[in-house]
Amino acid sequence: DWNMSNFLDTHIAQIREQVGEDEQVICGLSGGVDSSVVAAMLHKAIGDRLTCVYVDNGLMRHKETEKVRTVFEDHFGIDLRVVHAQDRFLDELAGVDDPEEKRKIIGRVFIDVFEEVAKEIPNVKYLAQGTLYPDVIESVSVRGPSATIKSHHNVGGLPERLNFELIEPLRELFKDEVRVLGRTLGLPADMVDRHPFPGPGLAVRILGDITPERLEVVRAADHIFIEGLRREGHYHNVWQAFAVLLPVRTVGVMGDQRTYDQVIALRAVTSRDGMTADRSHLPMDFLGRMSDQIINGVKGVNRVVYDVSSKPPATIEWE
Ligand code: XMP
Repeated sequence: DWNMSNFLDTHIAQIREQVGEDEQVICGLSGGVDSSVVAAMLHKAIGDRLTCVYVDNGLMRHKETEKVRTVFEDHFGIDLRVVHAQDRFLDELAGVDDPEEKRKIIGRVFIDVFEEVAKEIPNVKYLAQGTLYPDVIESVSVRGPSATIKSHHNVGGLPERLNFELIEPLRELFKDEVRVLGRTLGLPADMVDRHPFPGPGLAVRILGDITPERLEVVRAADHIFIEGLRREGHYHNVWQAFAVLLPVRTVGVMGDQRTYDQVIALRAVTSRDGMTADRSHLPMDFLGRMSDQIINGVKGVNRVVYDVSSKPPATIEWE
């Protein structure tokens, strides 16, 4: 793609000029498309003067940490610091069920952890972030009178407190353009084509209390759904898909026993940029197979429902 390699050349030259010869750049890696593309781009521009930090907050998807290590440490040879901070996040989140409260806590703990790691790296002056065009405009709010509807913790906060200068090479781009850029940079296809994943992770997909047990339930159900979408060829036809654990229990029957267990909601939408979205028209027999696999495979779940609302008036995430 001529436009993308042109974009890449221009921005790599800009990054080199901005960063100069001696300073270091730090980049928070989440495993998502945006931060992955930023990391690959910075690595191409300044090589080993880039350090990536991946904070395992315990709210990640199935085998996320391993995937990030494989791509960035093994494949690109990037200096990657993995911080195991699961307990810190889960302790702070214990007993919290308000969605914005969850986001605030996760944002605050993330900054604390990130700051501690950043202090260990000498001469860090810049922070590279995967801010996209829709993040920029959603943050200044074009979404209605009530300012921002959800506080996206990956925009703002970090730079002010840590006194970094920002490098945000994706600020003009939409997600589909970032994907093209990622391919141009040689990132693996399954990483570039990944669905978006919110900064607060599975915390906003567990309605009610976040506990290690409930995390396991939603993570396992999500994994079954995503693998099913890939296996049956639906993954690339949806923009985002995931499982949500609801805070209710319903009655079921297993053998000759009455059960009283949890409910998983499956969500799949089509969209261009996440600002509006339509329900995905997944085949009912596929959804039925997902339901069977989740109920048979995930202990504590006896019912699966499919979310058929569009955005607006619903949002993509349930929190
Ligand atoms: P909503 O739920 O607002 O989501 O329709 C739109 C897109 O944004 C993602 N999302 C977030 N991303 N931090 C993020 O980095 C957040 O707090 C957050 N909340 C929602 C959501 O997954 C969807 O792609």
